[in-house]
Amino acid sequence: MPEIGKSGVAGSVPEGASDPQSAAQAVREMFTSIAPRYDLLNHLLSLNVDRMWWRRAARTFRQTLDRPGARALDLCCGTGDMTFALRRQAAEAAPQILGVDFSHAMLQRASIKSAAFAKNGSAPGWIEADALNLPFPGEHFDLVTSAFGFRNLADYDAGLREIVRLLRPGGECGILDFGEPKGAFGALYRVYFRRVLPQVGTFISGVRGPYAYLPASVERFPQPEEMLTRMKNAGFSEASWTPYTFGIAGLYRGKK
Ligand SMILES: C[S@@+](CC[C@H](N)C(=O)[O-])C[C@H]1O[C@@H](n2cnc3c(N)ncnc32)[C@H](O)[C@@H]1O
Repeated sequence: MPEIGKSGVAGSVPEGASDPQSAAQAVREMFTSIAPRYDLLNHLLSLNVDRMWWRRAARTFRQTLDRPGARALDLCCGTGDMTFALRRQAAEAAPQILGVDFSHAMLQRASIKSAAFAKNGSAPGWIEADALNLPFPGEHFDLVTSAFGFRNLADYDAGLREIVRLLRPGGECGILDFGEPKGAFGALYRVYFRRVLPQVGTFISGVRGPYAYLPASVERFPQPEEMLTRMKNAGFSEASWTPYTFGIAGLYRGKK
């Protein structure tokens, strides 16, 4: 069993999962079941703000992406929107960009969407693998990102250690994920996120479960202060968090 952190949370635990293996399998099945409607629901439920978040996160790493020969890895890439955002930021330099996910159905959609980039030979590569056990040598990447995927890992500390292993010294990591906004806005947002979103998501996807799991997984996810401590413990020398859109989302940045 993975180590339990000070909040008692080791990683994501979808309903019915009893150990890290069954948690990972439940997450994979969940995303596979909603893959056909994933993009539509993402844009609809976020009122298209998701596009702005991916773009903003990718822009943060422009300097790294502009470096000749740079290598970037987008973990839990799903249908590839964060991966494409990295690609767009690196229009001139054409670094090697790979997207990884363990749901074949999500990757299939990413691959179809990358046809536009394939025309000029700059499409990202897609690899089916588990983010906790990646088929790459150590110190291979200049940048590792993950958008709305890291929170689903069965063991957050193991996920962070795997990212540190993959990064070159001086390499950077960007984890974009949901947060919990505070104050009056937070109270209003919670009604939307916990009540409206699960119902709309379930109705449109036709699948029960994933859209109830979403708010539950955000509640379980460590608060920024604890996440930054975990990043430092995993081996990042610098770690910071920048809230996006009143804290609905935010970007964790780490430097090895
Ligand atoms: C909410 S989606 C995010 C997709 C994309 N990054 C985005 O921003 O739209 C989460 C993705 O993480 C993937 N995922 C979750 N756990 C994973 C793991 N251990 N290894 C690889 N992929 C994983 C799921 O299959 C799913 O495609």
